[in-house]
Amino acid sequence: MSNRYAIILAAGKGTRMKSKLYKVLHKVAGKSMVEHVLAQVAQTLPKEIITVVGHGADAVKAQLKERSSYVLQEEQLGTGHAVLQTRALLDDKNGETLVISGDTPLLTAQTLKNLFEHHVKNHASVTVLTAKTEDPTGYGRIIRNDSGEIERIVEQKDATALEAKVQEINTGVYIFNNELLFNALSQLNTNNAHGEYYLTDVIEILKKHGKKVAAFQISSFKEFLGVNDRIALAEANSLMRERINHSHMMNSVTLLDPASTYIEADVEIGSDTIIEGNVNLKGQTKIGSNVFIGSDSEIVDSILEDDTRVIRSVIEGSVLRKGADAGPFAHLRPKSELGKNAHVGNFVEVKAATLGEGVKAGHLTYVGDAEIGREVNLGAGVIFVNYDGKNKLKAKIDDYAFIGSNSDIVAPIYIGKNAVVAAGSTVNQNVPEDALALGRARQVVKKGYARRYNHYRKSK
Ligand code: UD1
Ligand code: MG
Repeated sequence: MSNRYAIILAAGKGTRMKSKLYKVLHKVAGKSMVEHVLAQVAQTLPKEIITVVGHGADAVKAQLKERSSYVLQEEQLGTGHAVLQTRALLDDKNGETLVISGDTPLLTAQTLKNLFEHHVKNHASVTVLTAKTEDPTGYGRIIRNDSGEIERIVEQKDATALEAKVQEINTGVYIFNNELLFNALSQLNTNNAHGEYYLTDVIEILKKHGKKVAAFQISSFKEFLGVNDRIALAEANSLMRERINHSHMMNSVTLLDPASTYIEADVEIGSDTIIEGNVNLKGQTKIGSNVFIGSDSEIVDSILEDDTRVIRSVIEGSVLRKGADAGPFAHLRPKSELGKNAHVGNFVEVKAATLGEGVKAGHLTYVGDAEIGREVNLGAGVIFVNYDGKNKLKAKIDDYAFIGSNSDIVAPIYIGKNAVVAAGSTVNQNVPEDALALGRARQVVKKGYARRYNHYRKSK
């Protein structure tokens, strides 16, 4: 691309959010607003992206890392003042500069590209991205002259009653001729209701100097939302969710109740996967093809390979290999892996454990810090005793071993290939290959003794 630069404004505190967290770091669909903006801006291929930071500068930098350069706005004296902070980096550059706010997470790269195109085609000095809305409350209003040309932008607090009725608003996105931008910025003043240097005043200044000022209006009302408070944050989340769900459905994912399905921005899903309602898919989750995720499941930072099934379960930081299934009511905690076609069922918790191909743990089991070979059967109620109050201890169970129900596997321990642990055992010593381990009290039967208890229990 020619000489394109981009400035993201992200120095404001976000007073209206009433939050300890800096505004642009609030999340929409699991990703901070400023990250959404950066990702879209990056797709327009600018030579350099500069983010203006101030409040929470370190936190913002920590999120965007080297994807952006930074300038510090020490005092937040307005959007015009914020842009001015980039002067040292940009004012000797020829070309166009995109300015966008860090609080407009819904704007798409396509719209920004269209805006650039419009700007270049019209040989404009500045092009403002505008939108029509029935409720313009809170936004700057676009004031046009009799021939329909944009003259200036007036902020809500400075607007006359008549101006306030205008339904065309400023989205806070502009493309400027770089040189003219910095010339105009030095002419800004603070004679307005907020006592701030408004970037929006640059429009009027350029117009007065006889420069070509253009507007490009977007039709989609779902893009321009600027998030200044929690109400708008909720709205942005809801619009983003709709957009994400729509794109997955277009890519051949079945969502049975999209209105209650929350899929965060970075989640990937393969074709013919079916997702029921009330499902949350979060973080860096990757889901394969032909997967079924039943209602009330939450999957965070996990990989579900093709043909896996999850029923009413919580899966965090874990992997399900092809054909594996979890639930109902299973909980996979971080660093767990279910091998190919492995199954964990009702009320099974797995933590930092690898279950090999075809392993079955159908009911009421806790597997922690373990490595389990292929085709191992864990009976109902098997507990891995992995913690001595100080250390986490590892258990290793080799292929084809059979662990009877209600057994305690006391780590550290090794149970060999094909070994059998009898039901109800507590095993705390290694069990060699092919051996049977019994670790339970021998049963005693005392004939007639039951009658002794008849004085307090009914019997026939
Ligand atoms: C701004 C526009 C308004 C537009 C709206 C679109 C101005 C004067 N007003 O209003 O016309 O309709 O966006 O959403 O520009 N920021 C700084 N430093 C500052 C002040 C703000 O970096 O000194 C950053 C904020 O972090 C934010 C962005 O600039 O990301 C916009 O500021 P905000 O206070 O949200 O402006 P709005 O009132 O929304
Ligand atoms: Mg705003």
